Amino acid sequence: MSSTHLRPISAALPLLLLLLISAVASPLLSSAQAPAATPWPPQFHAALFMNNSKGTLQLVDLWYDLPNGRNLNAIRDQLSPSVLHDVEWDNGTSYYYTLGDGGSCQTMHFPVGILRPDWLDGASYLGRSRVDGFLCDGWAKVDFIRYYEDVATKRPVFWAFFNGMTAHVMTFEVGAVLEDAGWQAPAYCFGKKEGADGPKLAAASGVSRGYPMAGLGALGRSMSS
Ligand SMILES: *[C@@H]1O[C@H](CO)[C@@H](O)[C@H](O)[C@H]1NC(C)=O
Ligand SMILES: *[C@@H]1O[C@H](CO)[C@@H](O)[C@H](O)[C@H]1NC(C)=O
Repeated sequence: MSSTHLRPISAALPLLLLLLISAVASPLLSSAQAPAATPWPPQFHAALFMNNSKGTLQLVDLWYDLPNGRNLNAIRDQLSPSVLHDVEWDNGTSYYYTLGDGGSCQTMHFPVGILRPDWLDGASYLGRSRVDGFLCDGWAKVDFIRYYEDVATKRPVFWAFFNGMTAHVMTFEVGAVLEDAGWQAPAYCFGKKEGADGPKLAAASGVSRGYPMAGLGALGRSMSS
């Protein structure tokens, strides 16, 4: 072998070194970057224990169903005989209703659809902390929400809206889907003028569309308007 054969190799050496260094360094670099929140699964059921910050405690069944373009919060105030249903369709229509004797319904329209799985994209990383007894990564969306997920399982654990409302995630069932009948608004939701009471009914339980759960009342609405 003559030295001319070696030359291309030695010329390539710095380049190889560079590749090697960057291959070693890149995991280090990316681990120094803030982690992103885990996107929501397209379908899940979660039972939430909420405190609406005005002193009312609530049990909320959240059914998120992206493929079918719908999101439901069934909200029971502590010891209340009735459950407020907040059914949000991706076309912008929301039904707020109670069932049974004295059941009522309000329909509202919003310019936004339901939350997307990556709705936490762009949130700022808050680091790791222990929340509800779980080691969590946390994120904040400015002036809106702090959100924590379990480091080990990536499940959401807790979130707090900036209006003081808090949610503790008690169960999180990935892939659970509520049967169609559970989404059907009662007959008295249809065939009448949209009530001006809609916001009242919704605000009574702090419901607002487009934000995770029931909750943010005026906050969510002010964000989307
Ligand atoms: C609910 O929130 C209010 C206001 O932050 C607080 O005073 C109260 O202790 C909370 N209740 C529970 C059970 O955590
Ligand atoms: C949106 O979809 C729901 C459920 O199918 C329906 O009841 C409602 O009328 C629709 N709204 C509009 C504006 O089409």
